[in-house]
Amino acid sequence: MLTLTINGQLREVDAPEEMPLLWVLRDHLNLVGTKYGCGIAQCGVCTVHVGGKPVRSCQLAVGDVGTRAVVTIEGIGETPNGAKVQEAWMEIAVPQCGYCQAGQIMSATALLDSNPHPDDSDIDAAMAGNLCRCGTYIRIRRAIKNAADKSA
Ligand code: FES
Ligand code: FES
Repeated sequence: MLTLTINGQLREVDAPEEMPLLWVLRDHLNLVGTKYGCGIAQCGVCTVHVGGKPVRSCQLAVGDVGTRAVVTIEGIGETPNGAKVQEAWMEIAVPQCGYCQAGQIMSATALLDSNPHPDDSDIDAAMAGNLCRCGTYIRIRRAIKNAADKSA
């Protein structure tokens, strides 16, 4: 039995240590906001925060999480920057189909956690690993700036 800290709560999970965190979240804890895309760290749709850093949950074995806190899209709105990012996302109506958006929001929030006022190149560098087949990149960039302005 593994004990994880997920969105501020201790959760016990009976899963093999080598299982990717993504499947523990989705199949064991019913936290299905985190999506599966490529399974090989190429799309970013499975991004969550582990120990305050954005990680691809399809590539992290649950046994390697340890005591680090995990935050998912279901909990990110409880954090200061997560709330600002979600508000900006709604104001600008960023999503199209929506499939990539949980990962986009998790990466955007991690960016603002490390850099409260990113410029275009900072945003492009931080978000480069999050693909969007609907091409919402321009709105994502605007929303990140909008969220950053809320911190001013
Ligand atoms: S599903 Fe994890 S990066 Fe694509
Ligand atoms: S909104 Fe459709 S893939 Fe990004």
